[in-house]
Amino acid sequence: MPATVVVGTQWGDEGKGKLTDLVAKEMHAVVRYQGGHNAGHTLVVDGESFALQLIPSGVLYDHITPVIGNGVVVDPVVMLSEVDALESRGVDCSRLRVSGNAHLILPYHQELDRLIERHLGKNKLGTTKRGIGPTYADKASRVGLRVQDLLDADIFREKLEAVLAEKNLVLAKIYNRLGFDPDELADRYLTEVAPRVAPYVADTVSLVHESLERGEHVLFEGAQATFLDLDHGTYPFVTSSNPIAGGACVGAGVGPRHIDRVIGIAKAYVTRVGSGPMPTELFDETGDTIVDLGHEYGVNTKRRRRPGWFDAVMLRHAVRLNSLSEVAITKLDIFDSFDSIKVCVAYDVDGVRHDHLPYHQSDLHAATPIYEELPGWKKDLTEARERHDLPPNAVTYLQFLQEQIGVPIRVVGTGPGRDQHVLFSD
Ligand code: IMP
Repeated sequence: MPATVVVGTQWGDEGKGKLTDLVAKEMHAVVRYQGGHNAGHTLVVDGESFALQLIPSGVLYDHITPVIGNGVVVDPVVMLSEVDALESRGVDCSRLRVSGNAHLILPYHQELDRLIERHLGKNKLGTTKRGIGPTYADKASRVGLRVQDLLDADIFREKLEAVLAEKNLVLAKIYNRLGFDPDELADRYLTEVAPRVAPYVADTVSLVHESLERGEHVLFEGAQATFLDLDHGTYPFVTSSNPIAGGACVGAGVGPRHIDRVIGIAKAYVTRVGSGPMPTELFDETGDTIVDLGHEYGVNTKRRRRPGWFDAVMLRHAVRLNSLSEVAITKLDIFDSFDSIKVCVAYDVDGVRHDHLPYHQSDLHAATPIYEELPGWKKDLTEARERHDLPPNAVTYLQFLQEQIGVPIRVVGTGPGRDQHVLFSD
C-alpha cells in the first residue's frame, strides 16, 4: 500500500507543486489533506504555467484522481471557478472528488478574516484573508457547514440560519458591519453552487482506501508548511491547520501505518509571507537579489516574500516532526551568480549555542544565526540534468546541507520546468 506525503519543510512556497509533478507518473490519486485556497501551487507543464489554489495538482494528469480530503476547507465558489478556468484550457476536471466532510468557507468567514486582521492592527498575522482561520474555528466550535450540507437544502438553511444569528451579532456589535441575510445566502448557494458541486462530492475516505487496497500509489499533497503548522509552527503566526505529514492521517482518513515515504521540500534558501519570527531573514541587497531572481511574490496575494538564508536548525526539526525519508532542494539555480552562500547551522541565544530549535519561542525571536559560508559555483545550472552536470561547488553545497539535516537529498530543482532537476542521491 504505497502512500507518500509531500510536505513543505519551511514557511511555504518551497515548490511542492513541482515535486508533485515529478512523482505524479507513478501516482493514481493525489489528495489534499488540509488548508484551502490560501495555497498557491504553480506548475509549468509543456511551457504552460498553471497556478492552482485548491484543486490538487494531480488534476493535470489523465490517470490521476484528484481528491480534496475532509481536512481541507473549501470555498465552493473558488473550486468551481478553478474548475472552469482549467476546463477552458482543456484540462478535464471530471475526475475531481471532494469530501462531503470538508468544511465550507462561506462569505462571512472571509469578511471576518479581513475584519479580525484589521482589528489586530500592528499585531496582525498577515493572513491570506481567504477565511481559513474563521472556518477552522467554526469547525472546532462545531458550528461549521460541510460540503455535504449543500446536498440537503433543509439542513443547509437550518444550519446557516443558526450560525448567522451569532455571526451577524458579532459583525454588528463588534465590527459595526451589516450582517448576512440567511435566506439570500442560502438561495444563492443552493441554486447556483450546490447543483454544480454535487457531482464532485464523494466518500473520499473509502475512495482512498480502495485505491490503497488495489495496491495503487497515493500521494498526499501538503499545503503551506511545517513552520506554519497550527501545533508545531511559530504560533500565532501560523495557519489554522496541520500541514505536517501527520496531518495527512487526520485530513484524509488514513492511519500512520499506511504512509511509507515522506518527502520534505526545502528551498535552497527560505522565504516567509506574513508576520512571525524568521532567524535568517535578510534585510539587505542579498535579500532583494533572492526575491528578484526567485520571483518571490505570492501566487495568490502577490505579496513580497521575506527572504533569508537556508536554516538547517529548522530543517532538523522538520525532519523530526514529519519523519522525513528524504528531502528535495528546490531553486538551487537562484544562487548561480552568487560568490558565496551562507547556511545557518545553529543559533546563538544569549551566548548559548542551539543546534536544535529552542523550545521557547522567545528564544527563537532572540536567536542570532551561526553561519557557515560556502563558495558559490558561478555557473548556470538551468541546463543541468544529471548529477555530473553539477559543478563541484554545487555538489559540496548540497553535501553540506545533507550532512546538516541528516537525511538524503534526492531531487534538486534547477529551474521551473518539468525537466529542470537533477537526481542527487539514490
Ligand atoms: P492563513 O492561512 O490565510 O490564515 O494565513 C496564516 C499565515 O500563513 C500567514 O502568515 C500567511 O501568509 C501564511 N500562509 C498561508 N498560506 C500560505 C502559503 O500557501 N504559502 C506561504 N504562506 C502561507
